[in-house]
Amino acid sequence: MSTVNANLTYNYKVVRQFAIMTLVWGIVGMGMGVLIASQLVWPSMNLDLPWTHFGRLRPLHTNLVIFGFGGSALFATSYYVVQRTCQARLISDSLAAFTFWGWQAVMVAAIITLPMGLTSTKEYAELEWPIDILIALVWITYALVFFGTITKRSTPHIYVANWFYGGFILTVAALHIGNNLALPATAFKSYSAYAGVTDAMMQWWYGHNAVGFFLTAGFLGMMYYFVPKQANRPVYSYRLSIVHFWALIATYVWAGGHHLHYSALPDWAQTAGMVMSLILLAPSWGGMINGMMTLSGAWHKLRTDPILRFLVVSLSFYGMSTFEGPMMAIKTVNALSHNTDWTIGHVHSGALGWVAMISIGAVYHLIPKLWGVPAMYSTGLINVHFWLATVGTVLYIVAMWVNGIMQGLMWRAVNQDGTLTYSFVEALEASWPGYLVRFIGGAIFLSGMLVMAYNTYMTVRQKDAVALDNAAVQPA
Ligand code: HEM
Ligand code: HEM
Repeated sequence: MSTVNANLTYNYKVVRQFAIMTLVWGIVGMGMGVLIASQLVWPSMNLDLPWTHFGRLRPLHTNLVIFGFGGSALFATSYYVVQRTCQARLISDSLAAFTFWGWQAVMVAAIITLPMGLTSTKEYAELEWPIDILIALVWITYALVFFGTITKRSTPHIYVANWFYGGFILTVAALHIGNNLALPATAFKSYSAYAGVTDAMMQWWYGHNAVGFFLTAGFLGMMYYFVPKQANRPVYSYRLSIVHFWALIATYVWAGGHHLHYSALPDWAQTAGMVMSLILLAPSWGGMINGMMTLSGAWHKLRTDPILRFLVVSLSFYGMSTFEGPMMAIKTVNALSHNTDWTIGHVHSGALGWVAMISIGAVYHLIPKLWGVPAMYSTGLINVHFWLATVGTVLYIVAMWVNGIMQGLMWRAVNQDGTLTYSFVEALEASWPGYLVRFIGGAIFLSGMLVMAYNTYMTVRQKDAVALDNAAVQPA
């Protein structure tokens, strides 16, 4: 519990809980990623059991990393940032505790139901209707706690990080409730309220904005607080940050059509998705540059501060994936990339390079503050983690780019008589080395998370040491 003035204390308990669960779900979710990556290298890793085969564990991986790991990082940092920047305690400890336990219950329900094959089949929205209702309740409570705290702030201004967190919270509520409207048939089976191409359109309006708001806007909120804090510099341009906010949220919601190129979706809607994706490059890069330039005059800190390095490298990956995304949204490029490993490479340059790295940097910044110790146990180990994460990400995405472009070219190659040059199995065989490199890259990234867990454990233990030291100097 930290104090700003004599009367004000913050609720750090819920922040601590979510920070620890960020690590836990990060390790479990990425462990699941490494397991399914190994299944694509050695099919025997499917264990010949229905519960452990790729088709069931893949959605478990995505749910654990996006909602468990990313979600916990967003809850932890947003609760921390909103209290610090509004100089107000969360409006209700019990509602905040409900969001923590409710969210953990959602993740446990995912671990039970997805391997059992209980799924709505909508990507990133696979969980069945009773769990969806729990998610909606937790999310509405989250909105109450977050916006309620803003309303009782003791600062005149609402700092820009809160705008991004707020935009993320509101939009995810609309996306989740809108896309998951369904008619329950049994306790664990429901049918979407939408049919045919309308269902596909709703799904990718949701899916793309899960990327735009869950995996981007919230993490930009993190960027606007933790980059200036760690660099000890003001945001490069506050004006640009406001333009960034409005331009980003106004553009993202129109771009989902790029997931449905060459489908039954009306052609104009596909083209609109493509054009809005290209426009999206501008606000994305504007925000990335604003984050990067915040380091003006502080670049030398990168030599000694691996936490800052995590934050800055995450911005480079953000810039890279938001350049790649608009390119892949161009219909002719998408004709090559769609359904290949190129998409998987793009996903993980965003997921590992951007989302995971900025979360890791933010959590390293938070842990000592939350446990009241001067610094992390070992800066050397943060540095080791930084290199494991960077090398792991690069191996992963380069392997997938090579595989993806090769697959696209092999699938479309035709002989003079119009027959296909390569069978699907030949393209799959050619992908094997790439799958092996991706598995190795993923395992390296995961080992970095284990180093972080050890460093965190030793830091938290330090707290007891500090307490003991203090006790020693107190009169008996
Ligand atoms: C300007 C920003 C971006 C644009 C325009 C964009 C565009 C695209 C495009 C065109 C695809 C391929 C769709 C397909 O062929 O099926 C895609 C897939 C994807 N992107 Fe991005 N992207 C952007 C940024 C990001 C970021 C920052 C992340 C992650 C943090 C991300 C995560 C994903 C995911 C998860 C998919 C796979 C969806 C699926 O098929 O399951 N994107 N994106
Ligand atoms: C050790 C780290 C990781 C490994 C080894 C890993 C591995 C994998 C594998 C093997 C797949 C399936 C690819 C396929 O179907 O061909 C996958 C999909 C996916 N992963 Fe990961 N992953 C890791 C971390 C993450 C993280 C941190 C996130 C998000 C924050 C993430 C988000 C996703 C998403 C969204 C998909 C689905 C992509 C799509 O449908 O296009 N992964 N991952």
